[in-house]
Amino acid sequence: MEKIVVGNLKMNISSVAERDRYFESFKKELKELKVAKTQVVLCVPAVHLESFAKKIKSKIVSIGLQNIFWEDKGSYTGEISAVMATNLGAQFVIIGHSERRKYFGETNSENNLKIKAALKSKLTPVYCIGETKDEKDAGNAAQVIIEQITEGFADLSSTQAQKVVIAYEPVWAVGSDSIPTSDEILEVKILLKKIFAEMYGLPVVEKMTVLYGGSVKAESVDQVCNQPGLNGVLVGRESLIPRDFFKIVSAIEKGNM
Ligand code: PGA
Repeated sequence: MEKIVVGNLKMNISSVAERDRYFESFKKELKELKVAKTQVVLCVPAVHLESFAKKIKSKIVSIGLQNIFWEDKGSYTGEISAVMATNLGAQFVIIGHSERRKYFGETNSENNLKIKAALKSKLTPVYCIGETKDEKDAGNAAQVIIEQITEGFADLSSTQAQKVVIAYEPVWAVGSDSIPTSDEILEVKILLKKIFAEMYGLPVVEKMTVLYGGSVKAESVDQVCNQPGLNGVLVGRESLIPRDFFKIVSAIEKGNM
């Protein structure tokens, strides 16, 4: 089974000098890396897309963005389209990250439009879902996830649905130091399979790609990914330090799923 480690650089790397230092350290670590079944994706700030796509040429590493708008072009000040992303070297895009839902009020139905735009431009969407602490405490986590999936995947064909990577990122675990237990993650994996079975049937369930995200570190990879049998992880903070990021990649590669 192919595994994926997605790095989310968020709104970091503020200068060309800082970017050059990142490249240097990333390439050094990449040289040492031995992987046969793990794909690495780096989702960078849009201003850095072209330079990352040109500087990091490797079969193991793909470049992605952290958001797109759903229209192809036109009067949408400040937005970036899937077409632009693809033409400038992106292969992936994160959609519906909890920080976008929180600070920009993104809804499931807007994310549905973004997923469709990404697929139309041959970008692989990494669709983030997950409950907040309040939703978890109120016992509503499953309901929230069901809505995020059914509304986010609305009108997608089964061929389209199986191209979307789902990242389960409990909001309370993102940027914190708490992580769910393997059993809690396994429960969500089972729930996702049930929803997909109802929406698309069993053959599509077999092809689902599900990642875990939220405070992932090399030491926690077993708990959050290998034990619950997921396909990989989405990494925030640790992706800013290539050395730590590649330790996570190696831990994923070694896990026997
Ligand atoms: P974190 O971020 O690893 O820093 O918790 C994860 C994410 O936001 O995708």
